[in-house]
Formats: sequence, C-alpha cells, structure tokens
Amino acid sequence: MKFYQHVLALIFAIKEINKDQKILPNATLGFHIYDSHNNQQITYRIILGLLFKSHRFLPNYNCENHKNLVAIIGGLESKPSFQVADILTLYKIPQLTYGSFPQAENEMKNLISFYRMASNEDLQYMGMISLLRHFGWTWVGLFVEDDESGERFLETMESLLSQNGICSAFTRRMPNQGYVCDKKRDHSVIHFFHQIFKSPNCRTFFLYGNTHTLMYIWHYMIEVFGEKNSISVGKVWIITAQIDFALANLNRDNELQIFQGALSFMIHSKEVPGFQEFLHTLKPDWTEADGFLKNFWEAAFDCSIPNPRLPYKVSGTCTGEERLESLIAPLFEMCMCGHSYSIYNAVYAVTHALQALYSTNTKHRTMVTGKKEVHQDLRPWQLHLYLQAISFNTSTGERVTFNDNWEFSAGFDIMNLVTFPNRSFVNVKVGYVDPNVPGGNPFTIDDTIITWHKTFNQV
Ligand SMILES: *[C@@H]1O[C@H](CO)[C@@H](O)[C@H](O)[C@H]1NC(C)=O
Ligand SMILES: *[C@@H]1O[C@H](CO)[C@@H](O)[C@H](O)[C@H]1NC(C)=O
Repeated sequence: MKFYQHVLALIFAIKEINKDQKILPNATLGFHIYDSHNNQQITYRIILGLLFKSHRFLPNYNCENHKNLVAIIGGLESKPSFQVADILTLYKIPQLTYGSFPQAENEMKNLISFYRMASNEDLQYMGMISLLRHFGWTWVGLFVEDDESGERFLETMESLLSQNGICSAFTRRMPNQGYVCDKKRDHSVIHFFHQIFKSPNCRTFFLYGNTHTLMYIWHYMIEVFGEKNSISVGKVWIITAQIDFALANLNRDNELQIFQGALSFMIHSKEVPGFQEFLHTLKPDWTEADGFLKNFWEAAFDCSIPNPRLPYKVSGTCTGEERLESLIAPLFEMCMCGHSYSIYNAVYAVTHALQALYSTNTKHRTMVTGKKEVHQDLRPWQLHLYLQAISFNTSTGERVTFNDNWEFSAGFDIMNLVTFPNRSFVNVKVGYVDPNVPGGNPFTIDDTIITWHKTFNQV
C-alpha cells in the first residue's frame, strides 16, 4: 500500500516536466508502470514485452512498437534490479535503480547501462559502525533477510564489528517474503523471540532486509507479547535503508510503539515543492487513467469504489472525500521521502540527458540539412553519453551528478522514529552520512534531539 507513493512520485515528476515549456519543448514524456510481483519469470517477461511486444512475441524483433522507450527506472531491490539488467545490458538501454543495495554485484556483472539514484550499501555499513561507536554500544543482535544480500551484509558486518570491538549477541535469518504458516516452525520462532526480547542484556538490534522483514518481526513481537505488553519491550532498533515502516491490510491495527525511538538509515531526501499540493488533487475517480489507484484507495481507506456498470449500491463505498493526510503514517506518508525522492531524481536525470541529446542532434542536423527534424530515430543507447555527464539542480536546490560508479551518491539521513498513540508516527532527522562532506567525517548525529523508547531513562 505504502509503495504506491513511488508511483505518485513518478507521475508528479513527469507532469511537472511536461508542463514546463523550457525543459523539453518539443517532446512529451510518457510512462508505463509494471509490477514484477517479486517473481523472476514475470520480471523477464515484462522487460522483453516492453522491448518486443507485438501480436506475437518475437524476441529481437520489434514489429510494431509505437512506444519510444528511452530508459527504465527500477527496481527497488537488488534481485529484480539485476534481473532487469541481465536483459537491458544486451541492448544498452539505460536503467536507473532507486533502491540502496550492495556495490560489488554491480562490478562483478560489469553492467554497462546501469545507474543508481541512491548510495550503495558500503556507506551504510560505515554509518552503522560509526553510530555504534558514537554511543559506545558493544553488544548487538542481528536480524537479516535470508538471501544473498543478507549474507553479504552479515559477512561484511561481522568483520567490521569485530574490528571495532563490538560483539554480536545473535544472528537470526528472516524469510524475505510474507509470513510462514507452519505451526511447528511458528512455535520455535516464538520461543526464540521470547528469549531475545525478554533478555535485558542485549538492547541494540540491527535489522537488515526489506519491509517484509520488518512486518515479520512486528507480527511475532505482537504474537509473543500481545498488543498491550509489546509496547513495553524496550529495544533500540537500528534499521537499514530498504525498510519502511509500513502496514498491509492484514495487520493494519498493529501497535507501532514497540519501535519507538528506532534509528533508521534512509536514502537522503529533501522536501520537494508542490508535491503535497499534488497529493491533495488526488481523487478516486482517476482510476480510469491509473490502474493502481483503485486498489490503493480501497485498501487505504477501507472502502470500495462503486462499479458504474453495476446497478445496485454496496455498503462501505468510498465517497471521494477521503483525505490522504488523514491516513496514519504506516499506511501513507505525505513527504516525498527516501525511495520516492530517488524516483523523482531519476525522471529528471533522464530528462536532462534527453534534452542534451536533442539539442546536440538538432544543432548537428541544422548544419547538415539546414532544417530541424523531429526525434523519431532516437536510440536509447545514445543517451549514455549525456546521462553520464549530467549535472543539474533539482527544485529542492540539490545538485544531481553521477560519480565514477555512475551512482548519484547523496548519502543517507539518520531518522528517529517518534510514535503517537493514534498509531501514526513521524521520522525526525537526527543525523546523516554524507560522502560529499569535504575532507571531513561523513557521519554526524545530534543526540540531544533523539526521542528514545519510553522504557529508557538514559542513553
Ligand atoms: C496522530 O497524532 C499526532 C500527534 O498528536 C498528530 O500530529 C497527527 O496528525 C495524528 N495523525 C493522524 C493521522 O491522526
Ligand atoms: C545550482 O546550485 C548551486 C548552489 O547549490 C549554484 O551555485 C549553481 O549556480 C546552481 N546551478 C544552476 C544551473 O542553477
């Protein structure tokens, strides 16, 4: 539900560009959005379909493609992103990912048309160690997602921890998709959680994974302690950038206060002017144009959008007067934070590259043929030269350029989770890890503004 904001950030950026007469005067941007369903087969099929779709599906033949594909923005996580890259690399189509994942895989695969709109994980490792050292915490428990990224995290983190005199109390691998319904396994998980959360010695927990990993732990904490008592489990959670405090319909009433005071690394972002106003214009009757909106609206507001073709009325229909800002933060946030901001910047990066490509082409052609031509024969690979060289200011006043690894590395914000009794929260920025600090320490934190879990009376 919460990831729908990614779609909105994309639409917002594209509308902004199409409205602006200066930036791409003779072209209009369009887009298609696909859901990979976290499935490898679907991912490959979507990408091939995007490149070669026709009445029949003929790889390497583009029979009637009216879509002028210039670039692909995606994905959020490393696995689907690299699967997309497997194909796009062959055709040298620019791909801009918006999540933060390990650096090494990129080098290994020697990807030539792969750009990252967020800092890779190495910087985050460094930030996590700096955070522990800053507070003098030397005993931590590790929860990690059970996959390749999780293994890499453990490998790197365990050696960094020991170099810095920090011990790990336990390591626990979490399934990276959904819940398990196996009762036997359930019992052993509950037993483990019981021990860990009751233990007064280990108070600092790392959580590495994705939003499902967080939901999983959340589920078991409530299972073990019950809704009321879970609030009094006082731990310091240190949460990595790919994790969002989100709820699905299944557990929308979960109590968030167990994570009060958590410190999360989040892809650096800044308030984008106009985005809030854009969100206010959103109405459920856009569903004709936006295939995702209906599901989002119905799930978020727990109502149903009536089907005009059906004569009878059902109860609990959406009125259209629902307000996004009335949703609690685990369901939707009004700020363009983290991943959404990366998507916004990705759209602008492609646009600026296109603009540069068009303007050189036009100059060249005007000289050769004496007249301007339209951009029919644009090839996506032509964009690389200009993408690699982009440097522009966003509407937030930040400079976007790629480094030598073709990564826009603006670092991470360190956010402190402040929860409210109404099950909403705000993330307060208390520090950052910024690789661009000239000559200085990239890590900064301000202890004095941190809100800790209510069971702690000292740091
Ligand atoms: C929840 O409570 C906080 C603090 O009282 C308030 O600022 C926020 O607007 C409330 N959120 C919702 C969705 O009601
Ligand atoms: C971008 O912003 C920087 C300051 O952050 C400023 O010095 C520069 O002139 C701006 N560039 C453009 C093209 O507006």
